[in-house]
Amino acid sequence: MLLDSRETGRVDVTELDADPLRQLSMWLDAARAAGQPMPEAMTIASATGDGVPSARLVVLRGLRRGLVFFTDCESDKGAELAANPQAAAVLHWLVPAHRQVRVAGPAERVSQDEADEYWSTRADAVRLVAAASRQSRVVANRAVLETQVRETLRRHPGGAGVPRPQRWGGFRVLPSRVEFWQESPDGLHDRIRYRRAGSGWIIERLSP
Ligand SMILES: Cc1cc2nc3c(=O)[nH]c(=O)nc-3n(C[C@H](O)[C@H](O)[C@H](O)COP(=O)(O)O)c2cc1C
Repeated sequence: MLLDSRETGRVDVTELDADPLRQLSMWLDAARAAGQPMPEAMTIASATGDGVPSARLVVLRGLRRGLVFFTDCESDKGAELAANPQAAAVLHWLVPAHRQVRVAGPAERVSQDEADEYWSTRADAVRLVAAASRQSRVVANRAVLETQVRETLRRHPGGAGVPRPQRWGGFRVLPSRVEFWQESPDGLHDRIRYRRAGSGWIIERLSP
């Protein structure tokens, strides 16, 4: 399929999977296989209710019906997505070829079960910090954070079995538009966009 584009530097509409999440999964696999560092690093953009945008990196943790990432849902991004549940995401890989995937659509909270399941896979130290730190809040200095971690550790000796705080969970970006961008050696880069149309997708080529 698209792996051929490593040689040609080209992406053709006829080579693409009918489902953009399956296509994204294939490009992720290709980036992983090619040794791209952190292929799951994904920029997530959100905006306040009155339209002021912000963006940050997260880790893409799954492609179940949409793009799933986990976070403190009371963080700035969590508050923005609660007030204005629209998100945009960008993934970028230099290998195997310069590629970018852009996704936009509504964002929803993942279920409590999905959040619990992911929380259970995290290392004790990661859970300890996630429970101790209220992401995006202003603190006076680092010592304050260290005290919060020590207090959480005192409640959970050894740092084991820290329960998931209610505020910690995940979001799923449900794609309504997905664009696959691939650099072409001749500068005429390929841009193929999927637009949701009912239960299917319209696939079209965009000018670079
Ligand atoms: C490579 C990388 C991966 C990251 N992954 C996550 C993540 O999965 N979840 C998360 O909440 N923050 C992650 N962060 C930190 C975020 O970029 C950001 O600082 C944090 O979520 C607070 O963002 P906010 O204040 O806009 O809500 C990551 C940062 C980097 C550089």
